[in-house]
Amino acid sequence: MKRFGLTFLFAGLATVAATTIGWQVQAETTRVEFPDLEALVHYTTVRRGNVTEHIMTTPEAIEAVKAGEPIPNGTQFVLVDYRDDMELYRYFVMEKGEGWGEDYEAGRRTGDWQFQWFWPDQSINMDENTARCQACHSRQASADYLFTGYRIPRFNGTPVE
Ligand code: HEC
Repeated sequence: MKRFGLTFLFAGLATVAATTIGWQVQAETTRVEFPDLEALVHYTTVRRGNVTEHIMTTPEAIEAVKAGEPIPNGTQFVLVDYRDDMELYRYFVMEKGEGWGEDYEAGRRTGDWQFQWFWPDQSINMDENTARCQACHSRQASADYLFTGYRIPRFNGTPVE
């Protein structure tokens, strides 16, 4: 109930801002919090042109995937996006929580995962609408919305490339 009230209030404020100042409001916070990177395991690297992505998750999620079990609630996956000479550009985070899918209408929902884009100073990119993240990751519904989860079984301490 409390959350519904806050969401409603935010929507109201955003509408006022949009109509009075003419902003295009796409920005949103989600339930995703900035991760404790030290606690995560870097299991794969993706390289594309000048981009290097270090993808990491919790040891518990790695164990679950290897055991063929569902990824537990509370899991975060983080994509650390470096550009050029390994200059940190941004963090993409997805986090799963019990019932979190219910924050969204069915058509947008990606299981119980929510998404967020953080800048290197850990602030949220308020120009992003995370519906875009969900739209693309929904293609991976049969793989718990993950693109690189299939690499986890091959991970043995050295990031899979
Ligand atoms: C157009 C499709 C697309 C969009 C939009 C997109 N992603 Fe992804 N995402 C991918 C692909 C593909 C990968 C696998 C890594 C790669 O190929 O770069 C990935 C990987 C990830 C991963 C690592 C876990 C995994 O699935 O392998 C996270 C975390 C992630 N994305 C978060 C986000 C967030 C947050 C957003 C929105 C701000 C977002 N993504 C938007 C396609 C997308």
